[in-house]
Amino acid sequence: MKRVAIYPGSFDPPTNGHLDLIERSAKIFDELVVAILINEEKQPLFSIDERCAMLRDMTRRFDNVSIDTFNGLLVDYAVSRGAQAVIRGIRAISDYEYELQMALMNRKLQPRVETVFMMPAEAYSYVSSRLVKEIFRLGGSVKGLVPQLVETRLQEKVNGRTARTHKVARMPRRSR
Ligand code: PNS
Repeated sequence: MKRVAIYPGSFDPPTNGHLDLIERSAKIFDELVVAILINEEKQPLFSIDERCAMLRDMTRRFDNVSIDTFNGLLVDYAVSRGAQAVIRGIRAISDYEYELQMALMNRKLQPRVETVFMMPAEAYSYVSSRLVKEIFRLGGSVKGLVPQLVETRLQEKVNGRTARTHKVARMPRRSR
């Protein structure tokens, strides 16, 4: 039987911690699907298409890894993809409580799908998408925390915003 796992998340943006877990999971499972949640309630920095493109670039070298999106219940999506497992990363004890609750709820919803907790390399144990966005927005360096291509995309977002603001600010006032 083919061992298939889903690695779900928001990936806004994907980090080196995510990549580390993808690499570890791809060694254990025959097929790994990195699945981005389409969440209408959240205002992400990167669109679904942008996140898909970044993850595709980052995982090009793994021939058993694919990128997909999903909405609705994770366990329903996992079953629809023929997956037996869901991968979640645990960086610190603080992650555990929430992850345990989610894993047990998912098991109640669908006992056929197991949650597998994995630890990223220590170097990424403090990396999160939320902190990466905050550090970048405030002008700090995110080198080593995200792949170069993600750093470039972050730069483009910020530059795009600056350029637009700049343009608007310099527009001559309309005479009434
Ligand atoms: O990267 P994140 O934001 O921590 O990922 C959270 C995610 C996508 C794994 C979680 O929100 C999820 O599974 N959402 C799908 C809806 C669902 O199944 N909810 C019930 C969870 S018990």
